[in-house]
Amino acid sequence: MRRHSGLIPLSHEHHDVLVVAQGLIRGRSPAPRSDWPPRREDQVARVVAFFDQVLQPHFGFEESVLFPLAERKMHRSAELVESLVREHDEVRSRLGTLRSDPKHDLDLRLPALGRLLAAHVRREERDLFEGLQRELDEAALDAIGVQLRARPASGPSCQPRHP
Ligand SMILES: [Fe+2]
Ligand SMILES: [Fe+2]
Repeated sequence: MRRHSGLIPLSHEHHDVLVVAQGLIRGRSPAPRSDWPPRREDQVARVVAFFDQVLQPHFGFEESVLFPLAERKMHRSAELVESLVREHDEVRSRLGTLRSDPKHDLDLRLPALGRLLAAHVRREERDLFEGLQRELDEAALDAIGVQLRARPASGPSCQPRHP
């Protein structure tokens, strides 16, 4: 299903999450021009900065606007929303641990975080966004876009891509 314009900024951020997740899983980026750092220690700094600039506000918007909307308007969304919130908490907790211990077992911890992030955004795209597009009317989907544009800009991914 083609993504509704009201949800496109979030889908763009999901794409950025997937790129970071691939770097965490593989360790190196397959793209020769990528600026993904090859050293695991530097990847910690990269993912912490990405979390602060992009993920934290992204999660915040989902939790304050999108999830409550889904719970009000989407059939049988309670379980889905509950597990998505649990995954947000799991990501936050892993980021907290990376800040306090940015050195040990990175070859295990970073790929595990990457897999969690990738699975999370894929599930949101497939189950949450598809469901919202099926069950919400045009005005409600447009309203999401309006609220997204009202977010304070907090990172490169929060800027409009096609002004
Ligand atoms: Fe999410
Ligand atoms: Fe998301």
